[in-house]
Amino acid sequence: MTILKFSGEVAEFYQRYRRGYPAEVLDALVAEFGLGAEDTALDLGCGTGQLTLPLAARTRSVVGMDPEPDMLAQARKAAAGVPNANWLVGADSDVPALEALLGKGTLGAVTIGQALHWMDHETLFPVLHSLLRPGGGVAVLTNGAPMWLHDSPWSRALHDYLSGWLGQPLVRTCGAEQEEQDRYRASLEAAGFIAGETIVEYEDEIDLEFVIGAVYSATPEDRLPKPDERARFEERLSVAISPHAPFVEPIQVRILTGRKG
Ligand SMILES: C[S@@+](CC[C@H](N)C(=O)[O-])C[C@H]1O[C@@H](n2cnc3c(N)ncnc32)[C@H](O)[C@@H]1O
Repeated sequence: MTILKFSGEVAEFYQRYRRGYPAEVLDALVAEFGLGAEDTALDLGCGTGQLTLPLAARTRSVVGMDPEPDMLAQARKAAAGVPNANWLVGADSDVPALEALLGKGTLGAVTIGQALHWMDHETLFPVLHSLLRPGGGVAVLTNGAPMWLHDSPWSRALHDYLSGWLGQPLVRTCGAEQEEQDRYRASLEAAGFIAGETIVEYEDEIDLEFVIGAVYSATPEDRLPKPDERARFEERLSVAISPHAPFVEPIQVRILTGRKG
């Protein structure tokens, strides 16, 4: 079952404060799947287009697909002037219907960025195998651990502040755990893909506004601080983490690939 939590204001925060993927990540996808000007790619769980838009620059056309209309509305806005980006409302369970639209063996790549944990991957991967051309493949990406789970004083202070505010410790890492990655890899292989992995690492220094925006982008709409509570929330967050500035975030992008032989 899909639990939608990226609606309303959260979609706006996602578009503004979730970082995209560096060029090295796109280079790795192009190299692994031999992507080029003839290819169509599908970005499933595209959100506000973090991967869809750079993929559009490397392919003939790209389809960004997501069940949350508010995320797609933000993606469309961000894609103004990108004529080969197309948007479809739909979840992983709607992907089989794409075969009738696109035909078997037609896609160069399917990317799934920070979204596979919402999907039934064991059902999905065989369908994707059929949709992909030989040499093309699936890429499952994680875009760094949540900023409150890093091993640094500012991140620990953020974690403690958010846990106190929510009344529970924050632990979820959206599919980044090794166990989950191993399950995805086994599932890709069971569907007939040749699995591989690429890791891209870099550091980014962010400011307080970005920290707050990123926290809001990861908070379900009904749990965001109410507008009249927001100034107090932000002030307290600032008091908790500012002594530990600068806020340097280590980003590890993991790209699990499954290539169709
Ligand atoms: C964390 S965002 C990832 C956005 C973007 N791909 C990225 O890498 O930043 C997860 C997205 O998955 C979408 N999603 C949730 N359930 C889904 C499903 N069953 N099938 C496809 N997408 C889904 C959400 O609506 C949301 O936009």
